[in-house]
Formats: sequence, structure tokens, C-alpha cells
Amino acid sequence: MKIAILGGDGFVGWPTCLHLSNAGHEIHIVDNLSRRWIDTELGVQSLTPMDSIQERARIWRQATGRTLHFHLLDVAKEHERLKAFLLEHRPDAVIHFAEQRAAPYSMKTDRHKVYTVDNNVRATHNLLAALVETGIDAHLVHLGTMGVYGYSSVGAPIPEGYLDVEIDTPAGKRPQQILYPTRPGSVYHMTKSLDQILFQFYAQNDALRITDLHQGIVWGTHTDQTRRHDQLVNRFDYDGDYGTVLNRFLIQAAIGYPLTVHGTGGQTRAFIHIQDSVRCIELALSDAPERGERVRIFNQMTETHRVRDLAQLVARLTGAEVAFLPNPRKEAEENDLIVRNDQFLALGLDPIRLEDGLLAEVVDVAKRFAHRIDRSRVPAVSAWTKEIAAKVDRDPERRSLRPAS
Ligand SMILES: NC(=O)c1ccc[n+]([C@@H]2O[C@H](COP(=O)([O-])OP(=O)(O)OC[C@H]3O[C@@H](n4cnc5c(N)ncnc54)[C@H](O)[C@@H]3O)[C@@H](O)[C@H]2O)c1
Repeated sequence: MKIAILGGDGFVGWPTCLHLSNAGHEIHIVDNLSRRWIDTELGVQSLTPMDSIQERARIWRQATGRTLHFHLLDVAKEHERLKAFLLEHRPDAVIHFAEQRAAPYSMKTDRHKVYTVDNNVRATHNLLAALVETGIDAHLVHLGTMGVYGYSSVGAPIPEGYLDVEIDTPAGKRPQQILYPTRPGSVYHMTKSLDQILFQFYAQNDALRITDLHQGIVWGTHTDQTRRHDQLVNRFDYDGDYGTVLNRFLIQAAIGYPLTVHGTGGQTRAFIHIQDSVRCIELALSDAPERGERVRIFNQMTETHRVRDLAQLVARLTGAEVAFLPNPRKEAEENDLIVRNDQFLALGLDPIRLEDGLLAEVVDVAKRFAHRIDRSRVPAVSAWTKEIAAKVDRDPERRSLRPAS
């Protein structure tokens, strides 16, 4: 297959490019490198040293003989160039990762809120409109998030996209399936909720073939392909904006920093290892919907865990301390989460579970590159409201974690 991977220079995008290239597909990476610019804006860097995308592609070619084509293009801003790209290369599938994906970054200031909405909603809509205009019947696979559903305890499993309901009509109750209601907890999650409506419209109006993957929090860093050469290493974010919870605990443990649990740590979240994430995308590609079918929605996660249990697990494994800090987010202190993932299991996914060996591997990577960590960038500082910001700032334990200036 010829596959365009939008956002292919990112944390999930890069190992996906390698995985699918290794499987024999022709890969076209489309990326505006905005994530690298955001590192510059925030004054942080990936824990692992990342080469330029062109250099990464050169190493991949040297290691495997396979080519990764790179196209510098802003999907949100360059609609005409996006159409020209699609017409020139006519991909069979388009994988869409090209969005600003950090909830804390999206809540930093009004500028960050505006950027996240502009970038994400326009990128998704440009792609959909371009597929219709060019008449290219590519299977669109989008990376969405479990977070669109919010984290209130419903007590029932979250289905894969659609909810069976009964509507009261004058003629009695009528069954219907509706999109499972979203309840986004950040501006970032709100953009992913809006994406869902865009997909619903274009599948229904233009018979676009769309799969939306509602992914859990990704952990781990290496995949079989990124392990093949030092310069193929994946990016690995540890800072308070882009670092995701389990990876942050593992890095904190590696550098002797307390594991920073927000609130009671009673938040339950869905997780998936990076190797399973790339495998799920491959499985979704192999099972494209037909034209005219509704959007196919998968829950792309393999297990759920409570944040404080994860902290205890990492503490047991590494001897790290756990610090309970005020929560900069506006969210339920405690929640349950039950998620269905039958579709990927039916397609043959054999989930990688959280186990000591893989956790230790991440700690080893973090120890190897510990000299690249700026400890002052470890705390999460983006607060969801001004009131929360003031409270978080006053907290004595939080203050004690600040490095001496
Ligand atoms: N990492 C996770 O834990 C996680 C969890 C759930 C869902 N997801 C979703 O998976 C996708 C990829 O996540 P990631 O962790 O790889 O993020 P990332 O930020 O590492 O990668 C996103 C890539 O998209 C590019 N990009 C952003 N806007 C663009 C634009 N307008 N034009 C072209 N390129 C653009 C960035 O430069 C970057 O390379 C995201 O959409 C995210 O919402 C990620």
C-alpha cells in the first residue's frame, strides 16, 4: 500500500512509519515539524537525542534499503499544497496524527487554546475536504483519544464509539445508535470531540472511508524498529506539558525525583504500549470500512490503571518516593473506567501488559540519557483555571520540588 502518514515525525508517528515501512508499504511522511518548534518554545528537548527527519530517513534507508519520503507541509494552513500532494501521490491510506496533542499545553494560555483549536480542527477538516475535492478514495485512519469521554464513573463499559439508546416517540420507544457522548476535559480533548463530528458528516455526506482510533495513554519508547539503530530512537517527552503519566514516573524514578501524583491519584486511565499502538494501526488499516459505511471506531487501549497504583508499582520497582501534589487539572479526584476493546482483540491483537521488564527498560533509557534532563521542567505547571493556578502555586510541597535558583 502507499500510505501518507501526517504527523509522521512525532512520538507515535515515527515508530508507525518504521513499522509500516518494514512491512513493505510505501511511506510518505507529511509533517510541518511544529512539535520540534514547540520544544524550542518551551525550552525543553526530547530525553532521547533526535536527529532531523531527513537524517532519520537516511539511517533507515542504510539499515533496511527502504525509503521514507518526507514532505514538509502544514496540513492546517496549506490546503492547496495538501491537495497537490494527494493528487501527485494518490495514497491508498492516510494516517492522521498531525495535531497538537498535549492537554496541558492546550490549557497554558489563551494563545495556546487558540493555536490548538486552529491547528487541530483545521488540519482534520482540510484533510477531509481535500479527499472529497481530489476524489481520492483513501482509507483515513485518525488517532483520537479515550479522553474525549471524560472521566466520570458511569459504571458501565465504554463501548467502541456507539451507544444503544431508546428514543421515546409518540409510537413508542425506538432503538437507535448514537455516537457515545463526549465530555472533553481540556481544549485538546475538545478538538478531538469536534473531529468526531467532522468524520460523521463526511462519512455520511461523501462516503469517505474513515476509522477513528480512540487511543489510551501511550507508554514505553522503543519498538522493534526503533531499536535497530541509535539514530532511529523515538522521541521521549518528560516535561510537565508533553510527558505522559507513566513515562514521567519512570523518568522521575531514573533521576531520583519524587513520583509526582496529582491529587489523590485516584484517576483511572487507559494505557497502551507504543509497540501495540503501531500494531493496532496496522490492524485497523487491514480492516477498512466500505464506502457508505458509518465511521468505524475502535478503543485502542489494552488495560486501565489507577494513577496512584502505577506510582506504587514504579516505586516498588525502583525505590522512588511518591509525592502527592495539588492537581493542576479540573477533573474528578477518583473515577472508575471500564473500556471495551473487543474489535482489536478479534483482529488478533495480543496485548503487551504492563510488566516489570518493559518498565525497567524505560528506566534504563531514562538513566542513559539522564544528563539531558532539565529537572526544573519536570513539574506540571499548566493549570486548568486561574483559581487552580493560584492554589497550585501556593502549595508548600510543590514549592519544595522547585530547584534552587
Ligand atoms: N501520545 C499519546 O499518549 C497519545 C494518546 C492518545 C492519542 N494520541 C494521538 O495520537 C496522535 C499522535 O500523538 P503523538 O504523541 O505522536 O504526538 P506528537 O506531538 O509527538 O506528534 C504529532 C506530529 O504532528 C505534527 N503536526 C502537528 N500539527 C501539524 C500540522 N498542522 N501539519 C503537519 N504536521 C503537524 C507535529 O510536528 C508532530 O510531529 C495525536 O493526534 C494524539 O492526539 C496520542
